[in-house]
Amino acid sequence: MKDIKVFLSEEEIKAKVAELGKKISDDYRESDKNLILIAILKGSVVFLSDLMRNIDIDLNIDFMVVSSYGASTESSGNIKIIKDLDINIRDYDLLIVEDILDSGRTLSKLIDILKMRDPKSLKVCTLLDKPDRRVCNVDLDYCGFVIPDEFIVGYGLDFDEKYRNLPYIGILEP
Ligand code: IMP
Ligand code: MG
Repeated sequence: MKDIKVFLSEEEIKAKVAELGKKISDDYRESDKNLILIAILKGSVVFLSDLMRNIDIDLNIDFMVVSSYGASTESSGNIKIIKDLDINIRDYDLLIVEDILDSGRTLSKLIDILKMRDPKSLKVCTLLDKPDRRVCNVDLDYCGFVIPDEFIVGYGLDFDEKYRNLPYIGILEP
């Protein structure tokens, strides 16, 4: 492994995820709410698995895989659904769970697609937000940490598919 400088420690992440889980539990506790957490693979799996264990109300989970066309060409914001949800979301209060919000291109398109399916409600929870890089506006309902424009790995986030298994979030040293 390359050298990695710790940016957010396991303890800091744990405390923040507990705080987010408590807030989400309180917000969705009303009996008519039907919460489903939607995670976008693969980066969000670690966050999802910790977050759901910090939510103490009934919930469902489901996963999507999306890819963006021409991610290298700044103009393209089209996405392709590689794996769709298994359920009809009309009866659900959707909470999209993301690892990190960067340009916002993928998520803003995905939100448009999911809203057309008419869920009861739709909110967004991201562990990390890099606002300096935003191109498409995305309204965040829950956010763990606002971070500077650094490339980070760990806790689900990869560089070339590696480092997802680090229990902390770090900055790759060149
Ligand atoms: P965007 O918001 O559509 O630009 O893309 C967000 C996605 O880019 C995230 O879900 C990550 O998969 C990836 N990403 C953005 N910044 C980083 C980073 O610093 N480290 C690892 N992956 C990142
Ligand atoms: Mg991702």
